[in-house]
Amino acid sequence: MDLNDIRKRAENELRSVQNQQDLRIILQKYLGKNGEITKILHSLKDLKGEEKKQMGQTANDLKNDLMKLFYQQEHKLADKELEEIENKTDIDITIPAKQAKLGHLHPITQIRSKVIEIFANLGFEIAEGPEAENEWYNFDALHIPKDHPARDMWDTFWIKDLKDSKGRLLLRTHTSPVQARFMEKNLPPIKIIAPGRIFRYEATDPSHEINFYQLEGLMIDENITLADLKGVIEKFFQALLGGDTEIRLRPSFFPFTEPSVEIDIKCAICKGKGCSVCSQRGWIEMGGAGMVHPEVLKAVKLNPKQWQGFAFGMGLDRLTMMKYKINDIRLLYQGDIRFLEQF
Ligand code: DAH
Repeated sequence: MDLNDIRKRAENELRSVQNQQDLRIILQKYLGKNGEITKILHSLKDLKGEEKKQMGQTANDLKNDLMKLFYQQEHKLADKELEEIENKTDIDITIPAKQAKLGHLHPITQIRSKVIEIFANLGFEIAEGPEAENEWYNFDALHIPKDHPARDMWDTFWIKDLKDSKGRLLLRTHTSPVQARFMEKNLPPIKIIAPGRIFRYEATDPSHEINFYQLEGLMIDENITLADLKGVIEKFFQALLGGDTEIRLRPSFFPFTEPSVEIDIKCAICKGKGCSVCSQRGWIEMGGAGMVHPEVLKAVKLNPKQWQGFAFGMGLDRLTMMKYKINDIRLLYQGDIRFLEQF
């Protein structure tokens, strides 16, 4: 067998091979177990002397040269195949990279922070209470006795079969229980706000949700009057919605205040002329307020002859809707990115 002839054929085949699979077949053909060169190497044992030495040398050189060529081709083909895959997937390196998406605070959270800042500037501190509340703080301490029709003003989610030492548990229907909790533990003068989540067992519509946020306020001292309430509320709305915001107080009823008022602001959208947002009234109701009822002070062991003050409660959702001109409260709870991205 002429080794030169084998060399020519093998080198030709290795050079013209098109893929790695064929490359391996060629390797088998010459250097595999039964390959042409392998056979020659095996037959060396039948030769003798100088001939054996020469033949052995040439066959080994050939084997080494072919292996070298094999590895070169293997590299080349691997690169080529990778390139083909890249071309097939249409990668366009000129397209700008995808930006990582950064989130931001929910509009209610943004308003909550602003509100806290405004009241902090007016000297109020923040108080908190539990969302799972007992009926004593949610109702009794606030002068809303059991079996009194006033309890129906707050449609309640009761927590089945659970109570603590002060009564059955419920999901708080307002932030007003924080007033009682705070007054029990702190002596006047008191100046607090309590922002927090509350729950109502109600059908939902554009202005009602089963869960929303309120802002409670309480100021107790020896000489507080309704005029102080008006001043604080006016300053607050002007800081939040603009210096020309007008407010008015309207007589109302709440069991835990006497007298009680409703807080309205002049509609920012029609400037008081009447539009669909304010139901043609020109004014929009923002919350309730009043002078803390003597019975509430007594329930937390404060002497109503010495101490008095005002309380108010407003919807943080309402404030958010006013500030950003949102017309359906449910949008705030749907987690729809297209909506949330606007704030
Ligand atoms: N808690 C009342 C509600 O949820 C709102 C309210 C009214 C709070 C008058 C007050 C207040 O502190 O004085 O409807």
